[in-house]
Amino acid sequence: MKGEETEVELIKEGKRLDGRGFEELRHIKIDVGVLKRADGSCYFELGDNKVIAAVYGPREMHPRHAQDAKMAVVKFRYNMAPFSTDDRKRPGPDRRSIEISKVSREALDPVIMREYYPKMAIEVYAELLQSDAGTRTAGINAASVALADAGIPMRDLVSSVAVGKIDGEMVLDLNAMEDNHGEADMPVAMIARTNTITALQMDGRLTKEEFERGLKLAMGACHQIYELQRTALIERYSKSENKKEEE
Ligand code: CDP
Repeated sequence: MKGEETEVELIKEGKRLDGRGFEELRHIKIDVGVLKRADGSCYFELGDNKVIAAVYGPREMHPRHAQDAKMAVVKFRYNMAPFSTDDRKRPGPDRRSIEISKVSREALDPVIMREYYPKMAIEVYAELLQSDAGTRTAGINAASVALADAGIPMRDLVSSVAVGKIDGEMVLDLNAMEDNHGEADMPVAMIARTNTITALQMDGRLTKEEFERGLKLAMGACHQIYELQRTALIERYSKSENKKEEE
């Protein structure tokens, strides 16, 4: 739970400490199909966050008693590398990563056409190589592109970003300094094209007006991220088409 007061000054002369405006995203880089062994993969950078998502499947679900006779089961594993944080992170799952895995799976679930693959499993991994707040949103963005790269039938892509409150102002896409010393943090995931929210969490307190303003900021940013995800996928597949033609 966030503190009520900010003890560190996070906004100076109308700018955030990293020089961004209130409504500005960190830089984003997306590479599709970076892993040879996975059915689909994506490397995603959001500022200093670096994540690789890998998708395997649809493949047979084990253990068999966990199969769903009507649709595929989606498994999501969010994991932080020990070297991804300032202090070495103890390897293996903890409460936080179990929660983020669940939330991320639920954020993606509405777009995956699970009914096409009864009794099968679709496995999604989000491996954090470097973290600087907003890792769950980076993981969801990467996983969404990796699922598409794996050829999993999807209704659409999911895009995700966090908004928050620092020094009394609603701002987009908090970095770690802002997340640690800010007053509220609200990660949002959505299907940008239809403005459908698939996940929303909140740490800290916001007024109704701040919440509405934050949601509007997040929605605008998700549209930007959606375009970048789409472009990355189109580029990847137009490249492989060109390669085929050359052969
Ligand atoms: O990363 P996200 O904002 O989705 O989740 P969080 O739980 O709000 O974590 C915020 C940030 O705290 C992470 O991105 C990391 O930079 C940092 N963190 C860390 O350094 N060590 C951990 N064990 C957990 C989080």
